[in-house]
Amino acid sequence: MSIHKLSRREFMSTVVAGLFCPAKVLTAKSNDRVSYSLIAGTGSQLLDSGLPGKTETWCYNGQVPGPLIRLKQSETLSVDFHNELAEGSAIHWHGIRIDNAMDGTVGLTQDSVLPGENFHYQFAVPDAGTFWYHAHQRSSEQVDRGLYGILIIDEPFPPDTDEDVLLVFDDWRLGQRGLIEPSFNNLHDIAHAGRIGNWLTVNGRGSETIRVREGDRLRLRLVNTANSLVMPLTLPAWDAWVVALDGMPVQKPLRLESEISLAPGQRADLIVDVSAVFVTEASINFLHRDLSIPLVHFAFAKGKGRLMHQEPPYALPPNSVSPASSVPDDSYLMVMKGGAMGDMTQAEFQGSLHDIRTLVSMGKAWSLNDVVDKPDTPILTAPRGSTQEIVFENHTAWPHAMHLHGHHVEVSPEMAGFPTSGVDSILRDTILVPARESVQARFVADNPGKWLLHCHMLEHQSGGMTTWLEVI
Ligand code: C2O
Ligand code: CU
Repeated sequence: MSIHKLSRREFMSTVVAGLFCPAKVLTAKSNDRVSYSLIAGTGSQLLDSGLPGKTETWCYNGQVPGPLIRLKQSETLSVDFHNELAEGSAIHWHGIRIDNAMDGTVGLTQDSVLPGENFHYQFAVPDAGTFWYHAHQRSSEQVDRGLYGILIIDEPFPPDTDEDVLLVFDDWRLGQRGLIEPSFNNLHDIAHAGRIGNWLTVNGRGSETIRVREGDRLRLRLVNTANSLVMPLTLPAWDAWVVALDGMPVQKPLRLESEISLAPGQRADLIVDVSAVFVTEASINFLHRDLSIPLVHFAFAKGKGRLMHQEPPYALPPNSVSPASSVPDDSYLMVMKGGAMGDMTQAEFQGSLHDIRTLVSMGKAWSLNDVVDKPDTPILTAPRGSTQEIVFENHTAWPHAMHLHGHHVEVSPEMAGFPTSGVDSILRDTILVPARESVQARFVADNPGKWLLHCHMLEHQSGGMTTWLEVI
């Protein structure tokens, strides 16, 4: 671990502890238990939008992103959560193959933590990688206002890099005075692409600058925390490899040609070799139509990286995810319908059948197998250890970022957006199902409990695209 890396982390924790936090964030670390305290409340932050005034947020410990939680693989995380919001909330640990009772899903795995109340989360972290945590009640508003943070689980032996850089991308819809525009869950957003904003941030600021030296080998951890925006990102023309997706190492590093796309909730860990000072654009850019918006700048510092790697990076050690069998025990067809330009005419909601106009009047526009929102009984009950296949058949005119709690699923590299990778399958916790296409996902149902399965475009989730399954 380089000195720079340490100082960056120390810097972040002093900011947190010094400015905002009534109790220290990292409260204790004993043997293999690491304790944090998270307080959901309000904050205000300069998002560098150019609009006057700070943006009022809802957030953990006064800052967006919330405190970086970092511990080692197989340690135990202990979090005292206190809710100072004016409404109930809970914390979901996205991508962690967690004990079901700690999953933070209000209405399925726990009750809402009401204003003024506390909840204690404690769980072991089985997998090394880049994860995140966020509110899981009225998520479309709570997450959008800033209730999220990053969770990094370190490998016992992290790869040899000069820098470990966290880049958290978010998309905000700001009104005139720089305040969050409050039209949450309006029908237009719900039935179209979700709440797409007008201001992008990296690590809670308008842009980020990373100091690098020629010859540095960087580990970049990219996270898309936006409600609904899919982010195609281009990197400088340096050698780059994807070494992990959604926290799970890929079987071998996937060479990146220049662009990587992250759907809401998705993460990618990249190894990037800073090979030459004179590249035309030393920035990470967000691509939007003809625009290429620089979000992360690389500034060159004197000196040379100590590594001067010529060899491609090694694969990260795999996490112990059971491989799905090639012949699944069960296959479940999930037909996704609804939205603008869709063919949904009616669906079941809260136990009775409604036509589309009635559903829309109740803020619902999407169905999974003709059911809107989470039904009373699970869509499938999987015996523990069985291999389950879900075939997502997207009959809608919109892509959807389907996220399963408690498990990662295997998809083919083509379906994960890496057609020429030379690996057999890719593990993800969130998969983008393109408009009018199908994606097959397989997983070993080895984590008992009740698990949500929903679109991570949070307006689609609140508009009905959410269901659950059970592993017994
Ligand atoms: Cu990241 Cu159910 O969510
Ligand atoms: Cu969706």
